[in-house]
Amino acid sequence: MVLCFMLSDRVAAPPVIALRAIEKWYGTRDRPVHALSATDLDVGAGELLVLLGPSGCGKTTLLRMIGGLIAPTSGHLSIVGRSLWARGERQSDALADLGMVFQDANLFPWLSIEDNISLPLELKGMSATARRTKAHDLMKLVGISGFEKRWPRELSGGMRQRAAIARALSYDPKILLMDEPFGALDAMTRDAMNLELQRLFLTTEKSIVLVTHSIAEAVFLADRIVLLSPRPGRIDQIITVPFARPRTLELQATAEFQSIVLGLRQRLTEIS
Ligand SMILES: Nc1ncnc2c1ncn2[C@@H]1O[C@H](COP(=O)(O)OP(=O)(O)O)[C@@H](O)[C@H]1O
Ligand SMILES: [Mg+2]
Repeated sequence: MVLCFMLSDRVAAPPVIALRAIEKWYGTRDRPVHALSATDLDVGAGELLVLLGPSGCGKTTLLRMIGGLIAPTSGHLSIVGRSLWARGERQSDALADLGMVFQDANLFPWLSIEDNISLPLELKGMSATARRTKAHDLMKLVGISGFEKRWPRELSGGMRQRAAIARALSYDPKILLMDEPFGALDAMTRDAMNLELQRLFLTTEKSIVLVTHSIAEAVFLADRIVLLSPRPGRIDQIITVPFARPRTLELQATAEFQSIVLGLRQRLTEIS
């Protein structure tokens, strides 16, 4: 009886992202580029999935297709059970579950940090008072309270990325898509941001898909790592990372962590 309940419970949790035979060609007139060959992938609810691979293997292409920014050439993609594309049209109801963060924070320089974060809410028609409350809550969540009235140029790179994460979370999407969000930061800030992202992940129950080309970052953050091989991009292997959370930076010095990093590095050298 108990077993039946557990089984049905597991079956009842569908993936938040489902890719079926997703393929991408970029059409340049003289030479079409096969960026991604037919790819199947599920991202579970509450999972932190990392896309890892050498430069040019199609990580950004894959993430931008999941985010609805570019259309797949063929295949089917669904977000929380809803098709992202139907009859060549992007479906806006599926987009509501997605928030995106890029390598550059992409904040508007002429808006205060608070106004940058609450801009998506303004576009949704939320009142000024409610927006301010929400922006302040988000700034607290990402650890930049007190910087509401500052301009983006007055913040460090790490703090600007925190603001970009707060903006992506503003309309409470179920899924956060992050393309090398910490790639432009120095090593110490990057460590701090990795810890911060883990804290956010554990407190907000989001599903996260994060792109990186740092092997250590992938192993530190991921529940599962999808290793992509280049030309054309395809899934080489999927690795389940066994470490419990919360993970500490000291984990990176352990033999088990190092051995996963080494295995991935060797495989990356083979496929690059
Ligand atoms: N807009 C585009 N037009 C033509 N080719 C592109 C375009 N964007 C990416 N590519 C090519 O597709 C491949 C995958 O690129 P990308 O997804 O950016 O890889 P990654 O993020 O892993 O570095 C590369 O060969 C790249 O040159
Ligand atoms: Mg990229």
